[in-house]
Amino acid sequence: MKTQEIKFKNLNKGYSIIIGNNVLKILQSRIKKLCPQTKKIALIFDKKVPKKYKKEIYKNLNRYQLFSYNFNASEKSKSLKSVNFFLNNLFSKNFNRSDLIIGVGGGITGDLVGFVASIFKRGINFISIPTTLLSQVDAAIGGKTGVNSNYGKNLIGSFSHPKLVISDTSILKSLKKKEMVCGYAEILKHALINDKKFFNWLKLNSKYILSHQKEKLIYAIKKSCKIKLSFVNKDANEKNLRMILNFGHTFAHAIEIKNNYSKSTTHGEAVLAGMILATKLSVIKKVCSQKVLKDILNIYKVNNLNYVLKKYKNSREISNLIPYLKNDKKNNDEKINFILIKRIGKTTMPNKHKISIIELKKYTKYLTQY
Ligand SMILES: NC(=O)c1ccc[n+]([C@@H]2O[C@H](COP(=O)([O-])OP(=O)(O)OC[C@H]3O[C@@H](n4cnc5c(N)ncnc54)[C@H](O)[C@@H]3O)[C@@H](O)[C@H]2O)c1
Repeated sequence: MKTQEIKFKNLNKGYSIIIGNNVLKILQSRIKKLCPQTKKIALIFDKKVPKKYKKEIYKNLNRYQLFSYNFNASEKSKSLKSVNFFLNNLFSKNFNRSDLIIGVGGGITGDLVGFVASIFKRGINFISIPTTLLSQVDAAIGGKTGVNSNYGKNLIGSFSHPKLVISDTSILKSLKKKEMVCGYAEILKHALINDKKFFNWLKLNSKYILSHQKEKLIYAIKKSCKIKLSFVNKDANEKNLRMILNFGHTFAHAIEIKNNYSKSTTHGEAVLAGMILATKLSVIKKVCSQKVLKDILNIYKVNNLNYVLKKYKNSREISNLIPYLKNDKKNNDEKINFILIKRIGKTTMPNKHKISIIELKKYTKYLTQY
C-alpha cells in the first residue's frame, strides 16, 4: 500500500496525517509549505527512538537552526516540571510563534510536546511524529494534549491540533511486542465501536499487524485514524459522542490505577481486558448477544492475547476493581457511565447506561463467566 494522506478538517482547523513506510523525507517540503516563516526548530525526541531515524530527520532539516533534546518518556516525566523545562529552553533560545517544535516519540512525548507548543506564547507551530503504534492510531490524533498531575493522569491539558502528523511505519520496527499489543488494542476498539467490515478484516490480518507487516499496518493505521477522527469531528470538546471512544476504558483505567500503573500490565493490555469486561456487562444487561462476546474472544484467542484475561476469571479480582471505577473522570454523578456494545460495530450512546456500585457488585460473579 502506498503512502496515505488523511486530510482532517474541523471548524477552522485543518491538517494532514501522512501514513507510510519511510516517509520522513517529506518533512522538509511540508515545513516549507506549512511554516514558511520558521527559522528555528526544536526537536524533542523520545530517548528510545533509534538513532537512525534521528539522523534521517536531521538530514532533512539542515536549512534550519536546530535545537535537539532527548526526553526520557515516562508517566512520571509527563509533568509540569518537564513542561517548564522545555518552555524555559524555548524562551532562552528566543523562539517565537512562527518557529516550530517537532515531537518525535510515543503518546507521552506527543501529549507533552503538543501541550508545550499549545501554551508557548499562546501557541507555536507543532508537528507530531508518533513513533509507537498506539500514538499513530490514537494519541497523536484528535487534538488532546497534556500532562499528569498529582491528582491523576492527563488532568492538565488543552485541545490543540498540530500542523502535521507523520506516521512512519518503519519506526515501529524497534518496538517491543507489548508496545505493539498496546496499539493493537486501540485498533481493535475502533473496529468494535464503529466498523464491522474492519473487524472482519482484523480477524484475518491481526497477526500481520502484530508482526509488523508494513502494508497491513498502513491500512490498519489509516482505518483507525479515520474512525477516531469521525468521533472527534462530531464532538470536538468531548461532551458526548467522543465518549464512545472510551469503550473498555472505564474498566481499563480501574485496572491501571489498581496496579499503580505498573508496567506489568500496559495500558493496551488493560484496554483488552476492559473491552471483554464491558462486553460481558453488555451481555448481562441484555444489550448484546453471547455471540458477540464469543466473536471478540475468538480474535483474542487466535492472536494469543488471552493472557490479559486470566486475572479476571476470579470474582474477587473484579470486586477489587470496583472502588477504582468510581474515580473515572467521565462520571459526573454517583453512578458509573458505561459504554456498552450492541453488536460488532455499534455501541450504546453515552449516558444511556449508568450503573450504580450496588448493582455492579451483584454482577461480579457473572463477569467472570460466559
Ligand atoms: N492525547 C490522546 O488523545 C491520547 C490517547 C491515548 C493515549 N494517550 C497517552 O499516550 C501515552 C501512552 O502512549 P504510548 O503507548 O505511545 O507510550 P510511550 O510514549 O510511553 O511509549 C511507550 C514506550 O516505547 C518507547 N518508544 C517510543 N518510540 C519507540 C520506538 N520507535 N522504538 C522503541 N521504543 C520506543 C518509549 O520510550 C516508551 O518506553 C499515555 O500517557 C496516554 O495517556 C493520549
